[in-house]
Amino acid sequence: MNGPKTSVEVGGMGHNIKRKEDARFIRGQGKYTDDVVLPGMLHMDIVRSPYAYAKIKSINTDNAMAIPGVHAVITGEVLEGYNLHWMPTLMSDTQMVLPTDTVMYQSQEVAAVIADDRYIAADGVEAVEVEYEPMQAVVDPFKAMEADAPVLRTDKEGKTDNHIWHWETGDAEKTEEAFQAADVVVKEKVYLPRIHVASIETCGCVASFDPVEGKLTVWMTTQAPHAIRTVVALVAGHVGLSEEKIRIISPDIGGGFGGKVPVYPGYVIAIASSVVIGKPVKWVEDRSENLQADSFARDYHMDVELAASNSGKMEALRIKTVADHGYTDAAANPSKYPAGMFSICTGSYDIKNAFTEMDAYYTNKPPGGIAYRCSFRVTEAVHAIERIVDVLALKLGRDPADLRMQNFIQPEDFPYQSALGWEYDSGNYPRALKLAMEKIGYEELRREQKEKRERGELMGIGISSFTEIVGAGPSKDFDILGIKMFDSCELRIHPTGKAIARFGTKSQGQGHETTYAQILAEELGIPSSQIQIEEGDTDTAPYGLGTYASRSTPTAGAAAAKAAHKIREKARKIAAHLLEASEEDLEWEVGKFFVKGSPEQAKTIQEIAFAAYTNHPQGLEPGLEATHYYDPPNMTFPFGSYICVVDIDRKTGEIKIRRFVAIDDCGNIINPMIVEGQIHGGLTQGLAPAMYEELIYDEQGNILNGSFMDYLLPTSVETPNWETEQTVTPSPHHPLGAKGVAESPTVGAPPAIANAVVDALSHLGVENIDIPITPFKVWQVFQEKGAAA
Ligand code: CDP
Repeated sequence: MNGPKTSVEVGGMGHNIKRKEDARFIRGQGKYTDDVVLPGMLHMDIVRSPYAYAKIKSINTDNAMAIPGVHAVITGEVLEGYNLHWMPTLMSDTQMVLPTDTVMYQSQEVAAVIADDRYIAADGVEAVEVEYEPMQAVVDPFKAMEADAPVLRTDKEGKTDNHIWHWETGDAEKTEEAFQAADVVVKEKVYLPRIHVASIETCGCVASFDPVEGKLTVWMTTQAPHAIRTVVALVAGHVGLSEEKIRIISPDIGGGFGGKVPVYPGYVIAIASSVVIGKPVKWVEDRSENLQADSFARDYHMDVELAASNSGKMEALRIKTVADHGYTDAAANPSKYPAGMFSICTGSYDIKNAFTEMDAYYTNKPPGGIAYRCSFRVTEAVHAIERIVDVLALKLGRDPADLRMQNFIQPEDFPYQSALGWEYDSGNYPRALKLAMEKIGYEELRREQKEKRERGELMGIGISSFTEIVGAGPSKDFDILGIKMFDSCELRIHPTGKAIARFGTKSQGQGHETTYAQILAEELGIPSSQIQIEEGDTDTAPYGLGTYASRSTPTAGAAAAKAAHKIREKARKIAAHLLEASEEDLEWEVGKFFVKGSPEQAKTIQEIAFAAYTNHPQGLEPGLEATHYYDPPNMTFPFGSYICVVDIDRKTGEIKIRRFVAIDDCGNIINPMIVEGQIHGGLTQGLAPAMYEELIYDEQGNILNGSFMDYLLPTSVETPNWETEQTVTPSPHHPLGAKGVAESPTVGAPPAIANAVVDALSHLGVENIDIPITPFKVWQVFQEKGAAA
């Protein structure tokens, strides 16, 4: 499906993209998993546990099997027969596909019914009788760590507690010394609650095993098709599924945001059912199943401390975190980093001493720890540092903008070595904050706030000057289940000068079809409309680790440029042959080679491509193709400064975001319109946890807001007018000078909003309010502080 043409002028913003392109609006295949219909296809529905923690005493499937049209009821016992009842998580923990004796969270999969259609399958689910013996659930990670807490993972031999791992980084001793010597220390408990990705399409798949060919094809909602194929081969190789016989196709998936990286039990059960029954099996979960049972994000309890001198120089940062991982550690992190990129927590500030440690615990909640539109826990890190900087400003009686300016890493300090081990590639933090302040009229707003405060009105201004870390990753440090993180582009130029390029990433609406074509057009001079872009089919695309954590531009975008450079190297040889000149005498200008000093003696890329198949120099391989696997030398470090202005109703606690200015810097921009779209969407996904979203459980582990009636997503009605602008600080190591952008606003927006609300209430003695900051929480502050009108 081709989208409408637009008149976006690439390069119109002064970036280094020279060529005007007919930038196509986001294209997609127009086909979702749910659109896949195969002859003889069966449907699957899932029996789910009403209890958060219970023994399964018995499962009676007789009544379900008696329903006409029901083909099979799959239980843990059935899967155990094939040794498929457990599977590895992405963090090498273990997760049940279906339980044989115990359920560990409410809504966990207990059995699956395969039937002629979705309705009969649902009837079958109703008819399966499961007898449970409920047990007291452990819902709170602080209770899970108590010495007398029941040990939840009894399946793990020798396990005597609920502790999963301890992780730390930085210099504890030096940091302690800096704290001892500091004039001022501020401390705050900051909780980032459990939230959930709410993508447009829920998760699902169509698994089709062809018993004649022995080949399994799975259309599925995945952000990482190649990694999934390898994992399926590793997990199910013993039942005959070998990697060359597995094809994973990821069609349009309706948004991923990190929630479609893990393997969910539903996929595995559908695959197993298709192999056993020999027919295609479709499984598409409903909205509540998605919300209640799929992987969560965040759930970090952080104790944050910042030490500074009286003059405001930040000296040391220390963060201690308790992480709730649910019943298994299914976080989608690189293996070396159990807490993801949390160690970016020193942020945009030159803090010489830092130490952070974390302990993760099992509880009776759904598993996960997914990177919801963030680079593996960078949201948590940014929230911690941006909140504590405001607490310090309050303590010192300093303007938060001024304090940030004083402590920023300066433009001349790059590449900058952070205390927690990262080498920031480039940045200009003062410029971004200054621009945000000018755009919003900061000084005037502060004057207005002062006057309003004197009149008893509540108005707040919140800043977030965040630094991100995206583009996993350098393969020496980054892998998923041992598979190194790089990405790829395979580029073929056809004889008539048109092209097809395939990638190891997978767009979920980010517009790769547009931007990858633009990169290639820019590098080769082939119009982007004549370049076909494909992703998401493991039978055709080169191997790559997929799309999440804003990694596509830093990795696959770079691979596209590198593959195009390889094409140009070969094209030079062919052009030299055609022009009867030496290669050294040729110069490249977008779209053609010409003889130095005689620009009329030229061969276009189209002429060269034709010659590659019809008149290539003897001794040179015919054809014009190149593949590049790009292993980035470093991460990229996008950044931004956001300023939010809120007005708060003194009677009801209602919060109105009056203005929100977002200045982002993602290095060189490939497509300004797509970047703008990414920022708008990301800001709204930052507003969501700041003011609305939180998964809430009671003491028995029952989820209290398991549908969109209670789990609040902001709509356009709640969304303020985002005022956006970009600065450009190119990445020195990326071939295009580009950094990732997709998640920056989701990461940067929540602390700006929280800081604005706290700023409005700070004169009442408020230092922190945990997100989501609802009118009720503000109203409670009024009651506590006696400040209600
Ligand atoms: O991995 P993901 O595609 O989610 O994130 P990204 O690399 O930040 O890219 C999101 C979209 O913005 C893609 O279409 C990129 O090509 C585009 N983009 C851009 O035009 N310029 C940049 N500097 C960064 C991203």
